[in-house]
Amino acid sequence: MAELSTITPVPVDALEGLTVQDVEQNITPWTVEAAEVNGVKQAIDYDKLIVQFGSRKIDEVLLERFTKVTGHVPHLLLRRGVFFSHRDLSVILDRHEQGKPFYLYTGRGPSRGHMHIGHMLPFLFCKWLQDVFDVPLVVQLTDDEKFLYKNDLTLDQTYEYSLSTVRQIAAIGFKPEKTFIFSNMGFMGGAFYRNVLKISSHITYSEARSTFGYEAKDNIGKIHFSSIQIAPAFCSTFPSIFGNRTDIPCLIPCGIDQDPYFRLTRDVAKVLKYKKPSLIHSQFLPALQGATSKMSSSIDNTAIFMNDTPNAIKKKINGYAFSGGPTSLEELRKFGSNPDVDVSYKYLTYFVEDDQEIADLAEGYRKGEITSGEMKNRCIKELQDFVGGFQERERAITQADVENFMNPDYPRPFAALAKK
Ligand code: TYM
Ligand code: TRP
Repeated sequence: MAELSTITPVPVDALEGLTVQDVEQNITPWTVEAAEVNGVKQAIDYDKLIVQFGSRKIDEVLLERFTKVTGHVPHLLLRRGVFFSHRDLSVILDRHEQGKPFYLYTGRGPSRGHMHIGHMLPFLFCKWLQDVFDVPLVVQLTDDEKFLYKNDLTLDQTYEYSLSTVRQIAAIGFKPEKTFIFSNMGFMGGAFYRNVLKISSHITYSEARSTFGYEAKDNIGKIHFSSIQIAPAFCSTFPSIFGNRTDIPCLIPCGIDQDPYFRLTRDVAKVLKYKKPSLIHSQFLPALQGATSKMSSSIDNTAIFMNDTPNAIKKKINGYAFSGGPTSLEELRKFGSNPDVDVSYKYLTYFVEDDQEIADLAEGYRKGEITSGEMKNRCIKELQDFVGGFQERERAITQADVENFMNPDYPRPFAALAKK
């Protein structure tokens, strides 16, 4: 996990006498660390990550096909390249064209009571995909994973966090008729556990270690856990939704850090003669401190949480959001500043629908017409509205709503599932 101290650029001459070694970027499900060149942290290089992971870039041609097949302008997170990489997305588009079903799968490790605005990205995107394609969504809450990985969490606590996560997912606007949300601790048994067992019998310790890099001191639960994140990628895990079908593939929207699990999934699918999942990966919403690290639950002042008050949001943006522009107004008017490194501008690109406003903000900033204080104020307002609206909807979610989402037998009739 990136410590805050490691994301402050260290000037080379401050390290006189030391040999500065360049460090490669390291992105895993547990760590997001940008490269270091001459002792200076770099922005995460996403094109390089595509090469390292062996996925494909989402290019103009694919976006055009997406638009044609769905008849919708791509979601802002697609248009702006936040969802930037994929595996076999065209397989899903082909199926949709042929009227054949697929489903969406995503997840969340409930490591604390509330998600941060970065965690919203896969869910906002899933909501839009679900509306566009009219398909079932399954959401895995890995309370078991968080128990195994975080020494300070009890089983009761992580399960509590699962329940509060259900409320938050409901507040995004999902409906139980189309969405099944499960806690691993609560739901694993029956068809789910059978798949977990089949999967784990086909992954050797050395394959898992070369994918995830376990150490000898890691508990054995961590090593087994990957089978549990893999199982929901196969429709036979959910007989109450898909009956006895085994031939319906899923599309998994997730942050690129989760890709290692699903590379392994695609290998296992071949052996089990299940459908390989398709994936669509997002870049990270950066930490308040800048593009060299991701917003992370475990470091409080890198993140805006969905239960932050309007005042907390204002204080965090004003106090921590990296701007990087000139410090005097005179210099700003003369040289302008760079929106690409400005965190407040970056956050606006995730939440403001209007492409023209985003373009105007960038241009005004480059020309020195907009100050970093003004950019921060615009961002504060947008996030206060987004988080405030969310909190209002969250308050309206009832215990019965939570139970419906988590009930595998809640009626979820999908006509398309009858078609082969
Ligand atoms: P977790 O809880 O660490 O993260 C949940 C999802 O949020 C994404 N994410 C981010 N996206 C953008 N910017 C950020 N700053 C940021 N931080 C986190 C993650 O990439 C992830 O998509 N093991 C998983 C839970 C899981 C899962 C899945 C995730 C189970 N099954 C299937 C995706 C798909 C976890 O702990 O996620
Ligand atoms: N959500 C974690 C983070 O903010 C990522 C993560 C997944 C994690 N599994 C973990 C962190 C286990 C620590 C231990 O980085």
